[in-house]
Amino acid sequence: MTESTRIALVTGASRGLGLVIARVLGRRGYRLVIGGRDRDALAAAAAGLSQHAPAVLPIAGDITDAAVRARLIEAARELGGLHVLVNNASELGGIGPLMNFDVTRFGRLFPVNVGAPIVLSQLAVPLLTAGGGLIVNITSDAATGAYPGWGPYGATKAALELLTRTLAIELREQGISAVLVDPGDLRTRMHQEAFPGEDISDRPLPDVTEPFWKWLFEQDPVDIQGQRFAAQQEDARWLQQA
Ligand SMILES: NC(=O)c1ccc[n+]([C@@H]2O[C@H](COP(=O)([O-])OP(=O)(O)OC[C@H]3O[C@@H](n4cnc5c(N)ncnc54)[C@H](OP(=O)(O)O)[C@@H]3O)[C@@H](O)[C@H]2O)c1
Repeated sequence: MTESTRIALVTGASRGLGLVIARVLGRRGYRLVIGGRDRDALAAAAAGLSQHAPAVLPIAGDITDAAVRARLIEAARELGGLHVLVNNASELGGIGPLMNFDVTRFGRLFPVNVGAPIVLSQLAVPLLTAGGGLIVNITSDAATGAYPGWGPYGATKAALELLTRTLAIELREQGISAVLVDPGDLRTRMHQEAFPGEDISDRPLPDVTEPFWKWLFEQDPVDIQGQRFAAQQEDARWLQQA
């Protein structure tokens, strides 16, 4: 497959970080499948992305719904295959001390933040194999930081990190790579939800991660297999070419 027929699937691409990642991929000529629950917001995002990408297929629905996941993968197949899967969609699930945490909420948080990325990876592998391929799972510093109040969300991201590193080893022989990206604090709806009523205007917009994404998608996936990146880290590899 030529560069002009490369295809990427980005979950949670109706706004925030996912929309930035999809825009970078679209500008690189990728055909896009994008996901998100809010149909109108997703359609608006698709219309904007169409100015950059050769094709955009919006698939609305919740990533915990098996039928939605199947439609996302089927849309990639319709576009001609898959080269990059970005598991970006995620939920915060509320911030608060563990002493007050209702553990039944794990019943929602783990399927969204951990289960869906793994199932989407399982479904994507047969398509990714054809051209080598890259799975990008979005994590957070909350996965390792033990920040008060952030435990349940952080636990889901910690689980995603271990599973991604395991996946990277298990898929190596098939020529598929899996990496983790911690985007750093970003001024998005999710971040505002974590700090309700607070002024978060000192946090950068998700566009700040663009130099990193441009660099990442230029790499041979085999060379970055299993790595964890911090997109806002001052790193010569992606800042030099910004
Ligand atoms: N913002 C930060 O400071 C920060 C820091 C570290 C890591 N992260 C990570 O970065 C990623 C993107 O976060 P963001 O800040 O850009 O969040 P955001 O602005 O709230 O965007 C989240 C996106 O995911 C979609 N989404 C959420 N739940 C979904 C579900 N169950 N099914 C399908 N789509 C769903 C949302 O659309 P709908 O609501 O319409 O479904 C939206 O498109 C997440 O993995 C997050 O954990 C963010």
